[in-house]
Parts: sequence; structure tokens; C-alpha cells
Amino acid sequence: MTEILSVDDASIARAAALLREGKLVAFPTETVYGLGADATNGKAVASIYEAKGRPSFNPLIIHVAETGALDTLIDWNDTARVLASALWPGPMTLILPRRKDAPVSLLASAGLETLAVRIPSHLDALKLLRAVGLPIAAPSANASGKLSPTTASHVAESLGEAVDLILEGGRSRIGVESTVIDVSGPEPVILRPGGITQEQLAAILGRNVAVPDAAMGGDDSPASPGMLTSHYAPHLPVRLNAEAAEDNEAFLGFGSVAGVGETGRLNLSPSGDLNEAAANLFAMLRALDSSAYVGIAVAVIPNIGLGAAINDRLRRAAAR
Ligand code: TXA
Ligand code: MG
Repeated sequence: MTEILSVDDASIARAAALLREGKLVAFPTETVYGLGADATNGKAVASIYEAKGRPSFNPLIIHVAETGALDTLIDWNDTARVLASALWPGPMTLILPRRKDAPVSLLASAGLETLAVRIPSHLDALKLLRAVGLPIAAPSANASGKLSPTTASHVAESLGEAVDLILEGGRSRIGVESTVIDVSGPEPVILRPGGITQEQLAAILGRNVAVPDAAMGGDDSPASPGMLTSHYAPHLPVRLNAEAAEDNEAFLGFGSVAGVGETGRLNLSPSGDLNEAAANLFAMLRALDSSAYVGIAVAVIPNIGLGAAINDRLRRAAAR
């Protein structure tokens, strides 16, 4: 079994040393667990794609501990500065022009002229990033297309021996991935709904930030290369906007829609709290994804605040 270590000075030093050697280390963030590698090392980055079975056209997010560490990687602009100072460290990823001389593997940005960058807020992630002192490429630490991990044991189940070390940092507080915002063009655009809501962005920027249709489910020309229609998929089929379970279906409820049926039932948030629902989403889908059932029926989730990110993940989980 892959080693899982709780975070202390010794495990951080060990993880940082492994990353410097080009190894893969899974680490906690406030959104989901990440599968980290030294972004400046092409072989290390290639092993991320291999471990996840990820298509190489799908670029990675580069994680650092401080905004100053981005100066050699991307070209800043005013919108990026405003968002970075308001929301980092936190569940936001910015897409910015990649500097020609950026010391990041071209594979990590899949040959694009832009780079995705993020400063996570999880204290253990920040400790690791400071200790290693290198930009770290980190996708979610799951097999490509499958459910994202919100605990260290999810990572072990999904990636097994492919990862050299897993740092244990508890349950991910937010539970859905960062909001990906393209600020490389004239108008900011949300490429992936996530832990920062459209409402928060509008309040910070003083105007609405668009979410193109392609980011919301079509996959003919995904705005973000990773936003394919089928993603975040459990093994079982998922049925959305359900009021109750049908025969042998599991039920994932929300608020008062608790679901009636003979089989397994969980509730994302009995009180109807979307933050709680997001934090429970991937772990509950995993728990219900059992051969005891023929499918997973999911209650209606309001499409406001974090509900937009939850519904995005559920639509992709339901797509086949
Ligand atoms: O919360 C998160 O963002 C987590 C944690 C570990 O930080 N990471 C994560 O990475 O969700 P991943 O690889 O699962 O998703 C990255 C998304 C993909 O949809 C990818 O296509 C998009 O970011 N992306 C990366 N670079 C991009 C770029 N240059 N232009 C457009 N989209 C990009
Ligand atoms: Mg992912």
C-alpha cells in the first residue's frame, strides 16, 4: 500500500524531498486532494498524466504559496491582481498568459499559451509548497474522469501504488474544485464553476462574470480542455432531479427531499445548506456507488451559490 502520513515537520520534509526528486505526492487542499509533481520537471509532470490516465491535451493547474512566485511564470494584469488579492489563498484558479521563459514543463500547460495558477488556502498545502519552493503541478488526485477525492483514503483507493506518498490532512472543507477563471482576454470568463461563486466574483469586480454554455455541459468545444461532458463519474448511472428512488436505486437527497425507497439513502444537507452539500458531494457519491444498487438518484439542488458547482459536477456525473 502507498504510504499515508499525517502532516508534521518530518512528513512535510519527506514530501518536499520526494517532489524535488521528481516523485508524485498527493496532498490535501481545501477543495479536493491534489496529485502533485514538480512542474519544472517534464518527466515528473508526465508521470502525473500516466498515474491518472489523463489525456495529454488536458493541462494542469500550477500551485504556489505566494503571488511573488508567479512573477516568472505568468504576465499579470489588473483583473488578475484584484482577484488574487481578494481571493487568494483560496479556491480560485486564474488562467493567464504564460511567460515565454516560464520554467514550467510545456506538457503541464498542454502546449497552450496560457497557464492555470492557484494559491490554495489549506495550511498543510501551503506548508508543503513553502517547503518545496518549486511550482507544483497538481490535478485532482483521482483516476481521470472519476470522482474527485476529498480524503486521503479516496486517493489511495483511486490511484493506489501510482502515488509515492499521500499526506493526510482531513476532509476537504469545500469539497468541489476551484473556480477556473480565464483572465487572459479582455473580459473575465468562468471556465469551471467551483468553490468561489459567480455571485462573489460579481461583488468583487462590480460586474457580472460570464459562464459560457460550453463550460456548462457541451463538450464539442470545451472552454477549458478538461471540461468534457462525462467526468466525475461513479460506476453507477446517475439520475438527476429525482423526487424518490425507484426500485433498487440509491438516493442522494438534499434538504427535505430525503427520498423514499428500500435502498441506501444519504442526504447532502438535511438543512439545505449548499456549503455542507458541496463538502459531502464526492464522498456521498462514492459511498452510494455500490453494486448493491442499480443507479443513484439525486434530488434537485438549487442552482445558486455553490449549487452551480454542485450541479456542474452532477450533470457530468450523469452524462454517459
Ligand atoms: O481545486 C482544484 O482546482 C484542484 C486542486 C488540487 O487544486 N485541482 C484540479 O485540477 O481540479 P484538475 O486538473 O482536476 O482540473 C484543472 C482544470 C481542468 O479543467 C483543465 O482543463 C483546466 O483546469 N485548465 C488547466 N490549464 C488550463 C489553461 N491553460 N486554459 C484553460 N483551462 C485550463
Ligand atoms: Mg479533476
